[in-house]
Amino acid sequence: MTELVKRPRRLRMNQMLRKMVRETRMDKASLVYPMFVAEGENKKEEIPSMPGQYRYSIDRMGEKLYELQNAGVSSVLLFGIPAYKDDAGSGAYDPQGIVQRALCRAKQEFPQLYLMADLCMCEYTSHGHCGILCGQEVDNDKTLDCLARIAVSQAQAGADLIAPSDMMDGRVAVIRKALDAHGFTSVPIMAYSAKFASAFYAPFREAADSAPAFGDRRTYQMDYHNRREALKEVALDIEEGADIIMVKPAMAYADLIREARELACVPVAAYSVSGEYAMIKAAAAAGFVSEEELAIEAAVCAYRAGADIYISYFAQELAEYMQEGKLG
Ligand code: PBG
Repeated sequence: MTELVKRPRRLRMNQMLRKMVRETRMDKASLVYPMFVAEGENKKEEIPSMPGQYRYSIDRMGEKLYELQNAGVSSVLLFGIPAYKDDAGSGAYDPQGIVQRALCRAKQEFPQLYLMADLCMCEYTSHGHCGILCGQEVDNDKTLDCLARIAVSQAQAGADLIAPSDMMDGRVAVIRKALDAHGFTSVPIMAYSAKFASAFYAPFREAADSAPAFGDRRTYQMDYHNRREALKEVALDIEEGADIIMVKPAMAYADLIREARELACVPVAAYSVSGEYAMIKAAAAAGFVSEEELAIEAAVCAYRAGADIYISYFAQELAEYMQEGKLG
């Protein structure tokens, strides 16, 4: 016998004990499901790079909302895919626009669901950039006026929360002011604060038909070499009035989820993006990994890093795994 006194394995000897000493716990209330709503009727179109994810027409989105609600996921983040796009992205603030009608319908049919509206122009502009162009550049301050207008139209349509994902400077302050001026003082803002220019968004851009027609998003989304700058963005958004801040993507950015959690006095959301989902799905389909185990591990690691809220295309499955006691 050795004289070994400290034996960390003692607390790993059975499942009951492992669960008792577990440091990371989570529940369904913190899950958010991102969902695409498109024009048209009777549509449930699978997104090729995201098997199991669909673009729903408004008349069919209820099928998914019902399933989510049954599984215990109470929050969705809605993305609209319009039929027509123009230079100014005017469909984004049309009171009869795709996301506005979707919000209105969802609010009526599923009053218990919490509806988050993604606020960005890239799905609505013909050039695919997240703002108003001046030459080849996105004009920050001109874009702010549009963002404010979109936020108000989304709140008027029934959005419970506004989530700006455009990465323009000063947008949280402008959106807050516009919402307040229209009486929406209790509609929170969840700011995509540390949002990086990332190749992980490729499947989303296919899903939302929102890839930029020229150039890329590096003049507004962040350079992934930078961590101090991410914390600056987080601090600025909080100063401007963000109620919740976000780090995006999640999986390869856990260091920043942790740092944001330590810096911020507001809830931190982590968005596990389309490319993270697509990688797990593709590797599992090839038989290389277990989809269930990887989806669970990716989620737990985001929470362990410090996420309070987890936005994931696996939200429904995760809620079901929680129900089955595989995660929690
Ligand atoms: C809109 C937006 C994007 C995502 C969320 N909001 C795409 C982008 O910035 O290009 C990505 C989400 C995902 O990949 O799942 N700007």
